[in-house]
Amino acid sequence: MVLKAELHCHIEGAASPRLVEKKAAKYGADVSSFIQDGRFVWHDFTSFLNAYDQAAMLFRTEDDYADLAEDYLLSLGRQDAIYSEVFISTDHAFSAGINPRAYIEGLAEGMRRAKAATGIEGRMIATGLRHKGPEAVMAAARYIVENPHPLVTGFGMAGDERMHKPMDFAAAFDVARNAGLGITIHAGELSGWESVAGTLDALNPSRIGHGVRAIENPELVKRLADEQILLECCPGSNIALGVFADFSSHPFAGLANAGVPVTLNSDDPPYFHTDLAREYEIATSYFGYDDAMLKQVTETAIKAAFVDEETRTSLLARLCQDKTVRVADELFAGSAPSS
Ligand code: ADE
Ligand code: ZN
Repeated sequence: MVLKAELHCHIEGAASPRLVEKKAAKYGADVSSFIQDGRFVWHDFTSFLNAYDQAAMLFRTEDDYADLAEDYLLSLGRQDAIYSEVFISTDHAFSAGINPRAYIEGLAEGMRRAKAATGIEGRMIATGLRHKGPEAVMAAARYIVENPHPLVTGFGMAGDERMHKPMDFAAAFDVARNAGLGITIHAGELSGWESVAGTLDALNPSRIGHGVRAIENPELVKRLADEQILLECCPGSNIALGVFADFSSHPFAGLANAGVPVTLNSDDPPYFHTDLAREYEIATSYFGYDDAMLKQVTETAIKAAFVDEETRTSLLARLCQDKTVRVADELFAGSAPSS
């Protein structure tokens, strides 16, 4: 058992088909176009986003969002996660007809319930949607800066990376950064290394969502290592979306070996038939990671988390105090654990 932390998961994309069907029954909605045999149905990035948007529209009240966050963070707790950052989207709140304040309060309530049950610490990263354009991303940044919430500690951008240039969003990210929010931006997933380099140059994030196509340019990999820019890697998502052909050609280990800080994340778990535990298992099976290396990945995540220093220290202490990995190593080496 390795303690885990997740920095990259979209809360709407974490809704299980079972929970979406429950909300559909509540609202009398038909989900047959995007859920079949208990699984989300999509065939490319655009149809994935479409299914995702339709599922999101079935969460309409503060209680619905409390259920969603509680359900997801409880499931993370069962996977031995001690920390979770989820992306939230005020654009989705507006589309679902709920005031963003109630949306955030609902999610925060779900996080509180899950923390009370499992001890998992949660934070939210507000996001703008790139395909809605620079003005929409600016509106999302302004909303979150003008309506601060203690559990919303970051600002990011998701959506279709193939649209617009990084510089188009510079003003929005200045607004968020000047308010003290941590910055992470999706890049180098649907588009190549230039997108990662352009994002670093124009928007100066401390973390990149995915970023894996940086591997196309060795100089950029060196820059990521030199500047210690953390990549929120989501191998299961990348294979499901066809970013790489298979796990053996995924650059996770190559980036890590080059000194780039990398973490493991589930992105939109039920859409990609994954979860955080599976991502850690993928690292074991395909990237040669043992438990000590996985524990290091968790530590890397906590060190880059968008939390206050007191919370970070206590999360790191929990990780250090966990003796499971060390004891297992000692047993494997044939020596008895000292206590
Ligand atoms: N929104 C939800 N999942 C996403 C992904 N993998 N890439 C970009 N935007 C997203
Ligand atoms: Zn993502």
